[in-house]
Amino acid sequence: MDTAPATPGSDSSNPTRRVAGLTDLPPGELLAVAAPDGTRVLLANVDGEVHAVANECSHEFAPLEEGELEDDSVVCPWHFSRFCLRTGKALDMPAVDPVATYAVQVVGDEIHLGPRRTPA
Ligand code: FES
Repeated sequence: MDTAPATPGSDSSNPTRRVAGLTDLPPGELLAVAAPDGTRVLLANVDGEVHAVANECSHEFAPLEEGELEDDSVVCPWHFSRFCLRTGKALDMPAVDPVATYAVQVVGDEIHLGPRRTPA
C-alpha cells in the first residue's frame, strides 16, 4: 500500500509525493530517492534550489548519485559526462542523450517529487 502523502492542494492532474526532507539535502549535496513508481531519482541542492533527474547516466547507466555536483550539473562517476540538472541535457561526451528531469516542489521542509518530464 502506498502511504506517501500527496501534496496538500494537489490534484490528480499534477500529483506530487514527498520523497525527502529538506534537511536530508543540504546545499551542494546529492541524494538518491525513489519516485512513487519506483524509478530511481537523483535530487540535487544547487544553492538552495532543489532539482531532480533520473539517477542513471544515459551513456552506460552509471548511478549518478555516485557522481559529483559541479555548479548546476552532475558529473557521471564512470566516464565523467556532465548533465545539466535544470534540463537533463548531456553537456560532455561520451554521453549524448539527456536524462529525464522531474518537477520538484519544496513544501515547508519537505521535498515533493512531481511528474517526470520528457528529456530535453
Ligand atoms: S556511464 Fe556515464 S558517461 Fe559513461
